[in-house]
This record gives sequence, structure tokens and C-alpha cells, in this order.
Amino acid sequence: MRDLRFPSPPPSAITPPRLWLSRRALMATGAVAGLAGGILPPRAAGAAALAARPGPLSGTGLRPTPLRDVTHYNNFYEFGLEKTDPAERSGDFHPRPWTVRIEGMVARPRTYDIDALLARPLEERIYRMRCVEAWSMVIPWIGFPLRDLLAEAEPLGSAKYVAFESVLRPSEMPGQGGVLPVLDWPYVEGLRLDEATHPLTILAVGLYGQTLPNQNGAPIRLVVPWKYGFKGIKSITRIRLTDRMPRTSWNVRAPDEYGFYANVNPAVDHPRWSQATERPIGAGGFFGAGRQPTLPFNGYGEQVAGLYAGMDLRRDF
Ligand code: MTE
Repeated sequence: MRDLRFPSPPPSAITPPRLWLSRRALMATGAVAGLAGGILPPRAAGAAALAARPGPLSGTGLRPTPLRDVTHYNNFYEFGLEKTDPAERSGDFHPRPWTVRIEGMVARPRTYDIDALLARPLEERIYRMRCVEAWSMVIPWIGFPLRDLLAEAEPLGSAKYVAFESVLRPSEMPGQGGVLPVLDWPYVEGLRLDEATHPLTILAVGLYGQTLPNQNGAPIRLVVPWKYGFKGIKSITRIRLTDRMPRTSWNVRAPDEYGFYANVNPAVDHPRWSQATERPIGAGGFFGAGRQPTLPFNGYGEQVAGLYAGMDLRRDF
């Protein structure tokens, strides 16, 4: 059987894809520097303009990855295995109408309509994103802290973890209906409650000044910037508070390769490749940026290392 686990970093990880630095990508890079000034990059298909105020870490000087790369180099296995599949095959996915249910160990279970969530005060958060496949991006997300939503549901004292579930919709997601057993569907993920309520953890409803394109997890997805990208579950429909460590899709698929914690850690290699360095997507060739060292907790150690005090992060990888 074909190996359907995350592939080893592809040949493009060794030869930077200069072609990606198209004129459009350059325009997007230039435009994002002017986001606050109201100059927006070209819109992704189906996306609508979305206003947000700058949130913490938005002025840290990180240079966002061009919009073209953010929306055309994706992992979203519901639409296929190739990086280009999500952009090419998510056109028939309908992220509206949509609801997100919060339930389990909470005093006030509730169901939110996506339009009510979009009407909340939104922030732009420019975060590094480090994929377990040893590439990275910088993405100007738009969203709100997950902890605000959790607080409204009033978690019970017994709740220790938060479990997330993606939509199950094989009629619109060709990867779910396929014959290849990539992952068990729906995609599921989880966080410890203190990770979920950390102020850096957001639910994103947009990027680059617009609503989330389908391929990036429309209409709502998780972003936990100090963890490998696979923790950022897309197209969420259900959030459940629980006292048990939740199952997570990649951990079920290959427990020796993908841990529950999945904190970005250059000192703990993936069994099949190193995590010491990463390839910034969209920064090859022209700007002269090659591989760069990976930072512990993806550079957010100052804010989050305390969550793991006393833990052996080689065992709890
Ligand atoms: N969520 C779902 N539902 N299905 C997926 O296949 N892939 C994950 C994560 N969330 C995935 C998912 C992985 S492996 C990564 S690296 C990020 O989404 C990629 O997010 P991006 O495409 O917006 O950069």
C-alpha cells in the first residue's frame, strides 16, 4: 500500500521553488505591509472583506508569506493529498450556513451561528506557522481568542481538555469519500484546557483582511502558533470539553510520529526527518532566504514554556 503518512520533506524542500515568487506573490507581500493603511492584497476565490484591529504580536516585524502561497500550498486531506489539491478541489465546499456547537463538561452548552462569530470584535494576529513537514509560513490571521468562547460556555471544574471536530461532508470533500484510508474522518484534534485558554490560542475566521478561503479551513479553524500546524484543525463544527485526553487524527494514524502535544521542538526529530531547520515558503531565491533554524515553541517560548514546566518534552512530544 502507498505510504499515506506525511511524506518526507519533498525535493522542493531542497531546491527552493523560485517560480513561486511570481509577480502576484510579490504584490501580495508589498500589499500586506500596507494592511493597516487599507491596501488589501487580491482576494482569494469566494472570500469577503473582513475588518479587524491589530492584535498582540501584529507589529513584531514578521514578514507575511505571500497570499498566493498561503492559499495554494495547503494541507487539507479532506480535499486530497497534494499541496495544490485544497485550492483546486475545494470550490464546491459550502461554508455557509454553518454552526459551531460547544458542549460536554460545560454549564451552558450552546450553538453559535458563524455570522454571529464573524460579528464579534476581531483581531489581526500575525503568527509564524511551522508545519511538521519542516516548512513554515507567516500568516496574518483574523480571529478571536478561543478562551472568550469557552468562557461563555462556563467549563465545569472537572473539564481538563478540549476536543475539536471538523465537518464530515463527503459529498463536498472528495478526500473523505475516496477509497484511500488516509485518516479516520472527521478530522479530530485536542488541547489541554490551559493550552486552549492561553491568550495566544485563537479561532481564526479570516486571513489577509478577508474571510477564510475554503482551502485554509473556512469558515472557522484553530490556530495554536507554538505547535506544529497539524494541531490547527480546520472547518470546525464541534468543540467538546472533557476530562479525558482526546484522540487526535495524526496520533491515531501514527502514534510514534505525531504526539498529542506537538510543540514545535528543534531538539526532537521526527522519526523520519530532522526538525532542526525549516524552509520558509515563498521566501526562496529572490530574497535570498534559505533554510532557517527552527525555534523552540516556534519562537513563542517566552509566552508558553511555563505551561510545560516539569514535563519531559521528549517523552510528551
Ligand atoms: N484540518 C483538517 N480538518 N484536515 C487537515 O488535513 N491539516 C493540518 C491542519 N488542519 C488538516 C487540518 C495540517 S497538517 C496543517 S500543516 C495545517 O492545517 C495547514 O493549514 P494551512 O493549509 O491553512 O496552512
